[in-house]
Amino acid sequence: MATGDSREDRLDALLEETRVFAPPAAFAAAANVRDPEVYERAAADPAAFWAEQAAGLRWMRPYTDVLAGAVPHVRWFAGGRLNVADNCVDRHCEGPRRNKAALLWVAESGETRTITYQQLQREVARCANVLRSLGVRRGDRVGIYMGMVPEAVVAMLACARIGAPHTVVFGGFSAEALRERLVDAQCKVLITQDGAYRRGNVVALLQNAASAVRGAPPVERVLVLRRIGAPALAAELPAGMQVDWQQAMADASTDCPCEPMDSEDVLYILYTSGTTGKPKGIVHTTAGYLLGVATTHRWIFDLKEDDVYWCTADIGWVTGHSYVLYGPLCNGATTVLYEGTPDYPGRDRHWRIVEELGVNVYYTAPTTIRTFMRWGPQEPAHADLSSLRLLGSVGEPINPEAWMWYHEHIGGGRCPIVDTWWQTETGMIMITPLPGIVPTKPGSATRPFPAVGAEVLDERGLPVGPGAGGNLVLTQPWPAMARTIFGDDERFVRQYWSRYSGKYLTGDGARVDADGYFWLLGRVDDVMNVSGHRLSTYEIESALVDHASVAEAAVIGRFDAVKGQAIAAFVTLKETGSGGVGGAGTDGLKADLKQHVGRKIGPIARPDDIFFTAELPKTRSGKIMRRLLRDIAEGRALGDTTTLADPAVVQSLKEQYEEAGEGAD
Ligand code: WTA
Repeated sequence: MATGDSREDRLDALLEETRVFAPPAAFAAAANVRDPEVYERAAADPAAFWAEQAAGLRWMRPYTDVLAGAVPHVRWFAGGRLNVADNCVDRHCEGPRRNKAALLWVAESGETRTITYQQLQREVARCANVLRSLGVRRGDRVGIYMGMVPEAVVAMLACARIGAPHTVVFGGFSAEALRERLVDAQCKVLITQDGAYRRGNVVALLQNAASAVRGAPPVERVLVLRRIGAPALAAELPAGMQVDWQQAMADASTDCPCEPMDSEDVLYILYTSGTTGKPKGIVHTTAGYLLGVATTHRWIFDLKEDDVYWCTADIGWVTGHSYVLYGPLCNGATTVLYEGTPDYPGRDRHWRIVEELGVNVYYTAPTTIRTFMRWGPQEPAHADLSSLRLLGSVGEPINPEAWMWYHEHIGGGRCPIVDTWWQTETGMIMITPLPGIVPTKPGSATRPFPAVGAEVLDERGLPVGPGAGGNLVLTQPWPAMARTIFGDDERFVRQYWSRYSGKYLTGDGARVDADGYFWLLGRVDDVMNVSGHRLSTYEIESALVDHASVAEAAVIGRFDAVKGQAIAAFVTLKETGSGGVGGAGTDGLKADLKQHVGRKIGPIARPDDIFFTAELPKTRSGKIMRRLLRDIAEGRALGDTTTLADPAVVQSLKEQYEEAGEGAD
């Protein structure tokens, strides 16, 4: 049961008993960043700090201003020109990194491929020419719907090379979710693959893609990588629409100069869940984004020239964009891509990869760590993990138990752990230790990165005192910040920049302890975090209500020991629905509803629990009180019910829920 187990409840006890882990002496002595005064220097003149870092990029034309304009509509490195693919690939080919591995790819089958910077350069240039031959011009959007294959990286960099913003849609999303994004971003071309391997099965990406583009008129051509090569994966597309990746690449020239892009040109759009049913297309631009991810990657992961670096995130999420691809490659690193899941063919798969490739830096999500915990320490114990030097965590607050397990069983007690807080919107890591100088406390993301300003504010906008909870805000512009929501700048301003004047509202709750350490408390809005995937309660509610039998639905994230949050749906049925009458649903209908949500959004959004109820607790103005539903699902005493239209509804709901044995187990 989850009773009393929420992070809020436990934090008081935690803050008292917390252990502090100083950076190990040998690590600190060799760290990239060793001078603690960097924080003061950066705070005194953030623009100078970023300008100093910007000298590490290759510019085609120097910028005139580090920062121009006022938040939220700032311009970083205005007047400058550069190209992201040039910085991530071409410039490394002009020196000793030419034959260095850029990508180490491990297929789910065990096949491996090493792609050097020079090989990557040629592939990217070829793919850029293919895109041009399909009619893609500077500024046109390109959708990418692929698995973890090197060609996904090639495709993204090819877009950057010709100045065509990409929109990567996670391969676990459904055809409908893909269509919605392709239409919103008005993508001209979609790049996909026939199928993707996942846990020994094949995910039919092309068939999803084909069904998505049927309702997405802006998409003119679909470029298809043959990953599997099975005829059964073929899809019906209008004549001339489908282009074969292998064929087109074989015919393409490797001569393709990089397009000189303005600092503020759009690099990509990435959709993420917000507090409404409609996903937001977060817009990132060129120079500031690249600088932000490259600097944070080098400093936080203490990147060394010969490191093998592995961030386990999928390329379809922002972590994949910033810390599998753009940050590492801009720094000339060797970055690992793994196609499959951690439990295929065995539960030691990650540790086998660490051993075989000699991985030095490993960056993953708390939900994955908790899964490893559940599988037991014997899995990593069988592998030689002595190459590991540094560990990272991202995606949700890491519970101290998981932190300690990670430290002990993966890090062998010797590797610092960087718990990195950030968001799709921030583009880069914002709150994190610098591993050579900042002592860590299990469960705390520690302090803002140099030149980053963060505060915890109360409802009136005043900073809360040590230990008190409030809204986490970012107080000064940073280079990788989102510039807008694609096609909806008004929503961008309203959602992030209007609650506290001049400050960015993160949507996360936090506390700051007496040492100035930040403790993240999770979302304070209707965004859920399920296994590190960001999902909106409204999005899932809309999908449920779309089902013929459903009258109304309320979705909440309830505590789950492995996934962080699990999805619980409270559903009211139509009086004359197919599955039941006035609140009585069947198990068959439950299964059907889960499947329906999977079809509408993707398997990741499928509710864990569905509970049928005749009524939902609402305020007098008709707003569903999700907070009370969370209390019910987590087995807590009910919070304040005085604003309810009918307090009896929630009490009887609680009783029925407990009787049905629903909820956390
Ligand atoms: C949560 C993923 C606590 C947070 C990079 C944020 C975290 C949301 C951490 C963004 C962390 C991410 N500690 N919470 N280290 N990292 N979060 O956009 O709630 O997928 O707002 O970006 O994840 O999720 P997103």
